[in-house]
Amino acid sequence: MAADAYERVMDLARRRGFIWPTSECYGSVAGLIDYGPLGAMMKRRIEECWRSLYVVQEGFYEIECPTIGQEAIYVASGHVKGFTDWMVQCPHCTEYLRADHVVEGGGRCPNAATLDEEGLKRELEDLDCPSCGERFGDVEVFAFSLMFRTTIGPGSQRTAYLRPETAQGIFTDFSRLLRFYRDKLPFGATQIGKSFRNEISPRQGMIRLREFTQAEAEIFVHPAKKAHPNFGRYAAYRMPLLADAQQQAGAPAVEMSMAEAVASGTVANEYVAYYLALTHEFLVRVGVAPGRLRFRQHLSDERAHYACDCWDAECHSERFGWVETVGIADRTDYDLRAHAAHSGESFTVFIQYPEPVRRRETRVVPRMGALGPRFRGDAKAIADAIAATDPRLAGGPGGFEIDLNGAPLAVTPDLYEVREVEVEIQGEEVMPHVIEPSYGIDRILYSVLEHAYDEEGIEDGTRTLLRLPPGIAPVQVAVFPLMARDGLDAVARAVVDDLKSSGIMAEYDDSGAIGRRYRRQDEIGTPFAVTVDYETLEDWTVTLRDRDSMEQVRIARAQLAGTCSALCAGTVRFPDLA
Ligand code: GLY
Repeated sequence: MAADAYERVMDLARRRGFIWPTSECYGSVAGLIDYGPLGAMMKRRIEECWRSLYVVQEGFYEIECPTIGQEAIYVASGHVKGFTDWMVQCPHCTEYLRADHVVEGGGRCPNAATLDEEGLKRELEDLDCPSCGERFGDVEVFAFSLMFRTTIGPGSQRTAYLRPETAQGIFTDFSRLLRFYRDKLPFGATQIGKSFRNEISPRQGMIRLREFTQAEAEIFVHPAKKAHPNFGRYAAYRMPLLADAQQQAGAPAVEMSMAEAVASGTVANEYVAYYLALTHEFLVRVGVAPGRLRFRQHLSDERAHYACDCWDAECHSERFGWVETVGIADRTDYDLRAHAAHSGESFTVFIQYPEPVRRRETRVVPRMGALGPRFRGDAKAIADAIAATDPRLAGGPGGFEIDLNGAPLAVTPDLYEVREVEVEIQGEEVMPHVIEPSYGIDRILYSVLEHAYDEEGIEDGTRTLLRLPPGIAPVQVAVFPLMARDGLDAVARAVVDDLKSSGIMAEYDDSGAIGRRYRRQDEIGTPFAVTVDYETLEDWTVTLRDRDSMEQVRIARAQLAGTCSALCAGTVRFPDLA
């Protein structure tokens, strides 16, 4: 059987040093990979492109939190209780399997992730184990925590978890971030780093990793102000949206502008629409084929426990179908409310009104004439505590109790009155909502490789190439001396040094016929190749060759570094050079 796209891409990725099985000498581990020299470089470039949009363009500073988090974080976030998958153990071969994947693989229920324990048990009964082929029959289904559990310090005293998302580090830093951003909404923070999920039986290579890189932005907004201040940037941006309604009707995605998407209620608000468009722009920029990219809204029974609207950017894979690579969610105030409740800290922002508002309110008013003589030096503190008391607690005939320096103090009705007073309100405490674009960098990298992979018939056979965008290719310019002699090699090495001084990743190669050298670079996606030949020694020009068209132009050596920088940055296109 001919190799499918995944096998072809992964074969190239292994052979040429993009992606390797981890610790192969001990037999590797499913769900864990190593990035080889070219893969690590390409990944870094994708992350840099992400930073250029989120950190530079959007102004959301990056923070870096530990990958190990104390238990309290994940109790509050709901992960300890709810971040589980249903698991089944085959009674015949004893293999552990993810129950919903087995049911989906059985072909009868396309959306088994929405089934509960009983539903999964019923579906499994008549299915055969994908590992050994025996019928499951009456089997138990267990909830399996996806979090890696560990302990901090000796003696297993403190339970901790490897973070399942980078987001929680940003939420727990909320009050420090708020101060950093001078107590104003909206603001955002970003984080790029490893997250961990102990997947039950990851059989999908790069698509389901147990350790993976996330790039996440958490954008804190006023809950009643979800109009994006820069919406104009993407209001006219058009892209296909597969909303809940289209999915229910079995209809195809509908292309629309972001302004139309918000006006029609297809997308919940301008913030979500803005980051849908920005995500589309980013994915296409790093090399996802626009025709193999769609944005799909989560159905109401599919949404994470914290989200009120959620869209996935999905990249098409020949083997895996539509793969979620980015999630864009309105997480409301779910996380901040949870951390406020569990930590006792404030997770609100004081929003000052443009003008103070005067209104009449029922308040508990201390009687200073009675408090002063009785409590003397403590009178002011007691008066403040009385004034801060909820009038509903002070309405009874028996008074109420306050805390004075850690001790309870009975406040009798002669010390206060409950009445309407006119008050001036300066502002209000608001718990922000969170808009979260969350990117799975490994899946994006794989999708880019699959979409960039091409085989093309040429005069002397077939060339394999990665049509990577110049800004993403690990090696940007290859430099070849036509012959490794007569001074051509020395000039070529000097050209490499020039390019490197301009920040260009250049690689020198003098081994084998020139055609083979081109093929080697095409295969790793190097967008441009420079050849130093005998003419170079006479007129200081070199040839510059374009990977995709295989066209060549002759260019002055003095202009080479500037031209290559412009080509890699995308400010000049190769056909423009002719
Ligand atoms: N922060 C969203 C996710 O990890 O899925």
